[in-house]
Amino acid sequence: MEIRSQYSIIKSKDKKYTNSTILLEKGKLSYEWALNTMKIISKIREKYERSKPLSSFNLGFCLHITKETSVLLMAAKALGANISICSANPLSIQEDVVEFLKYNEINVFATKNQTKKEFFNNIIKVINTNPNIITDDGAELHSIAHNRKIKSIIGGTEETTSGILRILSLQSNNKLNYAIIGVNEAKTKHLFDNRYGTGQSIIDGLLRTLGILIAGKHFVVSGYGWVGKGVSSSLRGLGAKVTITEVDPIKALEAHLDGFNVQRLKDVLPNGDCFITCTGQRDVISKKDFSLMKNGVFLANAGHFDVEIDIHYLQSQDKFPKQMRPHLECYNINGKKIHLIAKGRVINLIAGEGNASEVMDLSFANQLLSILYIAENYKNLKKKLYEVPKEIDDQVAQLALSAFGIKIDKLSQRQIDYYYNNSSL
Ligand code: ADE
Repeated sequence: MEIRSQYSIIKSKDKKYTNSTILLEKGKLSYEWALNTMKIISKIREKYERSKPLSSFNLGFCLHITKETSVLLMAAKALGANISICSANPLSIQEDVVEFLKYNEINVFATKNQTKKEFFNNIIKVINTNPNIITDDGAELHSIAHNRKIKSIIGGTEETTSGILRILSLQSNNKLNYAIIGVNEAKTKHLFDNRYGTGQSIIDGLLRTLGILIAGKHFVVSGYGWVGKGVSSSLRGLGAKVTITEVDPIKALEAHLDGFNVQRLKDVLPNGDCFITCTGQRDVISKKDFSLMKNGVFLANAGHFDVEIDIHYLQSQDKFPKQMRPHLECYNINGKKIHLIAKGRVINLIAGEGNASEVMDLSFANQLLSILYIAENYKNLKKKLYEVPKEIDDQVAQLALSAFGIKIDKLSQRQIDYYYNNSSL
């Protein structure tokens, strides 16, 4: 498995290196580092590299541009695809990865710290390449492809819970123009990426930004879905007190029996040291809540969109001019310091490095196999949201187990009969 040139350490004192050369070298290292642990994608790549089943396809991606994404794209390229990518978030772009992808002839439409306008223009640039299959994280690309009625598209995939909600809304209004596979719904995606991946990378974002001791602090986690479960269990493991706020009675009960404190948000406002929203819903922490919080409180969001905390209200208030830490802003609300991390956008990808490669390997293996599935079956697919086929989910789990060196038992024929035919009755 080769990249265009081997990594070389920058050591010459004589040569002048441009910023982009340095980024490229860093990007190659980042790619190699991720590739080392993304064994499932590598196996899929090995299997199809010769036959190049994607060679007649233009793929358009809208993903967070990270080292893990570079592994997915390089694999799709090795299978013959022509590729364009824009970023799923204006602030999550890893510049070294951008240089690396460009060097490998992948069309990248993204620049670090791009404005909202540039972000949308870059999505349109991907659309203008007339993609056949699009892979999205948040359904922004799908949504624009639908508004513009792009004819070239034969199918797509979607990575997140928030994106799937948007696709379901298109589907219920009979507006879906092509088949979309909801990768988030695969067990080998949400059970691991959302829970263990995001559960860990949020801590990474918090520590890089704040460097605080987590033990003994009171964290309030809003939402006890897979991400909320992961974050609260990581925080508890580090010695934090954790309170969960929920609107779903079953999830709230689950949180209670998992041993967490469960309260209404308004009741816990004065006690939390740090609030983390993980709901996928809007207006979770709003204007009326800030002044009831502790002086010095920290606020962060893990959801895909920056709608969970009322950042517009915060940004309309006085801001302390000194920025004490990267990705940290501090507002003055009735004389209290309210800290906002990463502008209320996905903390794990902006303040941190995103989810670890091993877990993204599972998600992106589902993506790659779903893209291959669409390429092979699109003529028989309807304009609807599909689940990842069970064979793909099972295959990803098997490949992951073998990557981790784990062998599992098999049912005997007698056990299969017992299970399926209830032959003992
Ligand atoms: N979403 C969460 N973590 C990610 C990562 N490392 N790469 C791409 N998308 C992600």
